[in-house]
Amino acid sequence: MLSETGLYRDIASDELAPDLIAFEPAYALWSDGSTKRRWLRLPPGDRIDSSDMDHWQMPVGSVFFKEFSRDGVRVETRAIARTGPERFDYWMGAFVWNEAGTDAEFRPDGEENALGTPHDVPTSTQCGTCHNGEAGRALGFSALQLSAAGRLDQLAQDRLLSHAPSPEERFSVPGNPVVSAALGYLHANCGHCHNPNGSASPDTDMNLRLDLGQTSPTATNAYLTTVGVELQYFDGTELIYRVAPGAPEASALVERMRERGAESQMPPFATELVHDEGVAWVTDWIRSLDE
Ligand code: HEC
Ligand code: HEC
Repeated sequence: MLSETGLYRDIASDELAPDLIAFEPAYALWSDGSTKRRWLRLPPGDRIDSSDMDHWQMPVGSVFFKEFSRDGVRVETRAIARTGPERFDYWMGAFVWNEAGTDAEFRPDGEENALGTPHDVPTSTQCGTCHNGEAGRALGFSALQLSAAGRLDQLAQDRLLSHAPSPEERFSVPGNPVVSAALGYLHANCGHCHNPNGSASPDTDMNLRLDLGQTSPTATNAYLTTVGVELQYFDGTELIYRVAPGAPEASALVERMRERGAESQMPPFATELVHDEGVAWVTDWIRSLDE
């Protein structure tokens, strides 16, 4: 039960534990319009290992939580716990709330249309498809996401990081507003699978993750592996390019973001509705590129 995880001091009265770190990534994952709350709980006195500033590791015993509400109904709360020092010593799963909202139950097999909403709760296996591409499992709690959201220095001041960020590591996503909106969006919504350690890498070498230090748009992985680059997967498409500069309608990135219900939809699961705003950001970026 969620009440046994330490997220709440008193779940029945909705009172959270006092030692949680609430956070919000600068660039969020689109989840069909769900609203979300996120927390980290560190073991007392422990710090985040930030020796590799681009790939943080949480101490053993730490737990991340993420709560989803859809159409005003709180449907599920997810947890990722580091249970030991080894690579696969993580526990990941979703808890579905009861109708009364007094507790939530672990559902390893997920649940479709939970609590009468259109929201699908993912299976525990699906968590790994997105989260295992990052050694420390955290996707929205990172130097990049939190410095863009203005929270990185606070963590350093609170002595929660083993290594303070250098000026270059206080990172903002490169480019003018049109470019940075698209690069940040692709990082958060696609980069966890589309990177050399991600679950899509056996199929395609396209890399949509932003790495710290990529301070000009043309030096980003997304730019280097999409703009004017041909697709590896031509299934179900007439298109040739991942991104055809200046031509969104000839770019597979946009085509697959607009798809839902077919195998070619991107992301391939955890969404049933096209994110019009996200499509617009990526479309505007591609249109702004020189042909
Ligand atoms: C489609 C990919 C995807 C799936 C499936 C997925 N997640 Fe995530 N998750 C993300 C992304 C991306 C973020 C960060 C962005 C955000 O929170 O909006 C995230 C954030 C989180 C967070 C907050 C900590 C962090 O990484 O920033 C938790 C906790 C979490 N997910 C747990 C889970 C669990 C448990 C499951 C399975 C039941 C799951 N997730 C399934 C992509 C996914
Ligand atoms: C849960 C993991 C996952 C996420 C998240 C994801 N993809 Fe994919 N993507 C895949 C896999 C696996 C393939 C290879 C199989 C296929 O083409 O369907 C792929 C293939 C692609 C291809 C074809 C690449 C080529 O070289 O042929 C494009 C384009 C693409 N994805 C775009 C995106 C975009 C844009 C996003 C974010 C909006 C995204 N993907 C998010 C798993 C993912």
